[in-house]
Amino acid sequence: MRKKTIYTCQQCGHKTARWMGRCPGCGEWNCLVEEKPAPRGQISPGISGSGPVPVTDVLTIDEERYTTGLGELDRVLGGGVVPGSLVLVGGDPGIGKSTLLLQAAFSIAAQVGVVLYVSGEESARQIKMRARRLQALHPNLLLMAETDMSVVERCIQEINPVAVILDSIQTVFHPDVTSSPGSVAQVRECTGILMKVAKSTSIPIFVVGHVTKEGTLAGPRVLEHMVDTVLYFEGERHQSFRILRAVKNRFGSSHELGIFEMGNSGLAEVSNPSALFMAQRPAAVAGSAIVPSLEGTRPLLVEIQALVCPTGFGMPRRMTSGVDYNRVALIMAVLERRVGLKLANHDAYVSAVGGVKLDEPAVDLAIALAVASSFKEKPLASGLVVLGEVGLTGEIRAVSGMDKRLQEAAKLGFTRCIGPQREQQSTLLGIIDYTGIQSLAEALEAAM
Ligand code: TYD
Ligand code: MG
Repeated sequence: MRKKTIYTCQQCGHKTARWMGRCPGCGEWNCLVEEKPAPRGQISPGISGSGPVPVTDVLTIDEERYTTGLGELDRVLGGGVVPGSLVLVGGDPGIGKSTLLLQAAFSIAAQVGVVLYVSGEESARQIKMRARRLQALHPNLLLMAETDMSVVERCIQEINPVAVILDSIQTVFHPDVTSSPGSVAQVRECTGILMKVAKSTSIPIFVVGHVTKEGTLAGPRVLEHMVDTVLYFEGERHQSFRILRAVKNRFGSSHELGIFEMGNSGLAEVSNPSALFMAQRPAAVAGSAIVPSLEGTRPLLVEIQALVCPTGFGMPRRMTSGVDYNRVALIMAVLERRVGLKLANHDAYVSAVGGVKLDEPAVDLAIALAVASSFKEKPLASGLVVLGEVGLTGEIRAVSGMDKRLQEAAKLGFTRCIGPQREQQSTLLGIIDYTGIQSLAEALEAAM
């Protein structure tokens, strides 16, 4: 009998019976790889039990989270580590994933118990050198350089640590699967095993995953679906800020941000990021607006900068960093049609300062005012923060979490806020001078 083979897309995990140039699942070119189907009886994250039971009779241990000792990491996890959870930490190479997890491993080892740190990327000696630099040496922190998943699994069962770190999922392999480490089949099989181990032993497991240039976890998107929590570690390579962001969390909010600063002795937590972001803000220049944005439960003051200048020739250029490109294009169109700014023959560059990515609509008004301010070469009033969603007719819509935002602005010494009219009744308005506006044109008038 002919041996059956299947072709699996290395990007999305789509399976076909024959090779194709382009994956029918995700449309990527040249990503189907031949794989032998895994032997019967394995795979599938083993969380299945023994048939249906009434929800009231299901035995639970009260969810006892423990802290990692890193407040910013706890925040993103939703308030500490959940026993038996499988957490994926993704990010560009060199961004600091190993550093973050080694620091977390050390403080868990020092406070809670034995932690197993498995690395397929570095030797135990290399990890020790790093740990020494981070002052993260503790006898409860066990290092193991290993890439064979079956050995890792056995070790976890034998040692029974309070947490396991695996760096990285792309370097481990299971001997029963023939394809090479990092392939969809290997990654899926190894993740399935980790899931089974985590659920059956209640040991929380942290897994590192590398990110491709397109910003997705290298190869298998499937990985994201399998784990409980997906965290991304991001930042501008040339800046010291690092932002840890939850993109999926079965045990908490998926909008939380944790902010760190990379220094000579590892990552330091930034517990008051607004102050840090505001520290280098230029005084009274055109093209800058401050928005009290709300990421998860924490308000964050961020400066939006814009530079608008006449186009040399041809098509005007538009560039953004940290804010959505399409959103900026839309807001500029609204400025052109509803306010009458002649932006069509102008290049525009818009960025959120500090390496944060802002995707909430409350940032709209700050983008609009930064662009208008740069276009008119007139700075916004000093001590001013702005917020509000911009609609297609130029109306300003209400935003949520007003009290938290205004409190944060007042705490950092801002005295005035321009925002949606509807918020005029907010209880906290006493602490800041609030101007409610209905349209973009009104906002321009009030701000400059
Ligand atoms: P690393 O954790 O190895 O990144 P990843 O695991 O995501 O690939 O981080 C490596 C970078 O961090 C490297 O460029 C050096 C820098 N770094 C510091 O600046 N200070 C430190 O104390 C450490 C340990 C690393
Ligand atoms: Mg690493």
